[in-house]
Amino acid sequence: MMKAFLLSALAAAVVTPSQAFPSENEWKPPGPDDVRGPCPGLNTLANHGFLPRDGRDIDADTLSGALMEALNAEPELAGIFFAQAITTNPKPNATTFSLSDVTRHNILEHDGSLSRQDAHYGRIDILNPTVFAETLSYFPDPVIELKQAAHARRARIVASNRTNPEFAWSDATERNSVLETAIYLIAFGDREAGSVSKKALVYFFEHERFPPGWETTNKAITLDELLQMAGRIVNATTTESASPLDDGFATAGNVAHGWLGGNEL
Ligand code: HEM
Ligand SMILES: *[C@@H]1O[C@H](CO)[C@@H](O)[C@H](O)[C@H]1NC(C)=O
Ligand SMILES: *[C@@H]1O[C@H](CO)[C@@H](O)[C@H](O)[C@H]1NC(C)=O
Ligand SMILES: *[C@@H]1O[C@H](CO)[C@@H](O)[C@H](O)[C@H]1NC(C)=O
Repeated sequence: MMKAFLLSALAAAVVTPSQAFPSENEWKPPGPDDVRGPCPGLNTLANHGFLPRDGRDIDADTLSGALMEALNAEPELAGIFFAQAITTNPKPNATTFSLSDVTRHNILEHDGSLSRQDAHYGRIDILNPTVFAETLSYFPDPVIELKQAAHARRARIVASNRTNPEFAWSDATERNSVLETAIYLIAFGDREAGSVSKKALVYFFEHERFPPGWETTNKAITLDELLQMAGRIVNATTTESASPLDDGFATAGNVAHGWLGGNEL
């Protein structure tokens, strides 16, 4: 009896990814009335209940609480993220946003994504297996190095620019795209090395779920760290694939200036 119990407990432990989340933060896929958007990070926070599971009407405190609890992101960073997110709510003077608002094209959502097709071709809120496979083709090894992450980002932009007749890109898009690569390296990777396990990254993108064994970091994620990582990504973007905007983006200070500058975003 006891032995059978222990064996089944062991079997359960083997098949269930070990995750140090309390039950209210267990992963659940979205239900039919829940909304999600193009950001795998925000979708993941909602799927784990750090953000409202319905994905709707997220205010500044809710976002800040979720980012702090799940990622140990400092409030300053959460505030800047919120200032970005709120621009996607079409209602004047809105104080909340929904994950579906974030899908509106060419506000924050952009062409040349790592996992989404361009709006010209169809739905942009869900992972597109063909696009994601193209991104993964730049990651031949179990560990993705910062240089490879930088190259994949730029290569997707170049590919979209060549094929999509409606391809759009701005300084703000460039910044946000670099920051998206920076945040996945920080959230799921080795923050000193700037590398990440391919398996963990694929799991995150494909399931919109924190990878097995992943835990909230003890070392707070700061705005400065995010901007530093962004600078490293820009620096690692090779000449032949370099962005025309690199000159204006090559230091953490420049990223911060552009990002915090407000209106042009
Ligand atoms: C309020 C906070 C955030 C906002 C408003 C936001 C918004 C967005 C948007 C609009 C996109 C789509 C860009 C595109 O068209 O590809 C995006 C992409 C992305 N976001 Fe977020 N995001 C936030 C936080 C996060 C966090 C915390 C993470 C990681 C844990 C994250 C990871 C990513 C990644 C990896 C992408 C790239 C997806 C791709 O290129 O396919 N984001 N985000
Ligand atoms: C939004 O706020 C501005 C400035 O406070 C105000 O003039 C305007 O009437 C508000 N609009 C709506 C729809 O509430
Ligand atoms: C897209 O291609 C055009 C034409 O070659 C080029 O001028 C532009 O800089 C490219 N945009 C990006 C973001 O690479
Ligand atoms: C990027 O390269 C510049 C020029 O070599 C250097 O001054 C800067 O420190 C680098 N930035 C980062 C974040 O590594």
